Amino acid sequence: MSGATHATLNDLPESTRGQVIDLLNQRLADAIDLELQAKQAHWNVKGPQFIALHKLFDEIHAAADEYVDLLAERIVQLGGVAEGVTAIVAERSELPQYPINISSGEEHVWALSNALASFGERIRRAIDETDELGDTDATDICTEISRGVDKWLWFVEAHADGATAATATPGPRQTANAR
Ligand SMILES: [Fe+2]
Repeated sequence: MSGATHATLNDLPESTRGQVIDLLNQRLADAIDLELQAKQAHWNVKGPQFIALHKLFDEIHAAADEYVDLLAERIVQLGGVAEGVTAIVAERSELPQYPINISSGEEHVWALSNALASFGERIRRAIDETDELGDTDATDICTEISRGVDKWLWFVEAHADGATAATATPGPRQTANAR
C-alpha cells in the first residue's frame, strides 16, 4: 500500500491522508471479501429456511457493496488509489476463508455470522483508528458501516436463535481468524 499518491486540495495533512488510505485499503479488502462471501451463501444455501436465508444473504451482499463503495471512494478523495482487484483482495483480506462444501441453512448461518463478526471487529477498530488519525469523515463512514454490520449479524444470528456462538457446531472448517 502506498498512501497518498495523487495531489488534492483536501486540507487534511498528507501524513494523515496516507495513513488513513492504507488503513481503509485494508478494510476495503475485507469488505469485498464479505460481499463475495454473502453471494456465495446466497447461491448455495439449501434447506427449510431456504427462501428467507437466500433473500437475507442477497440483502447483505447489496449492503456490503455499499460499504465497499464508501471505503473505496473515501480512499480516492484522500488522494489514494482504491486497491480493489481480486489478487490484492485475496492476499490482503483478514476474514476467515468461506467454507465451500457446506449447504444447510445452519452451516451458512454459522459461516456468514463468522464473516460478519470478523469484519465487524475490524471496522469497529477502524472507527477509533481513523479518529485518532484525525479524519473524522472516515470515522463517520466506519461508524455507519459498523452500525450496518452489527444489524446484519443480528439478522443472521437470529436464524440460529443465538446458537452460533454458544454451541460447538461449527461448519466443516473452523477457520475463524485463521488468516
Ligand atoms: Fe440471486
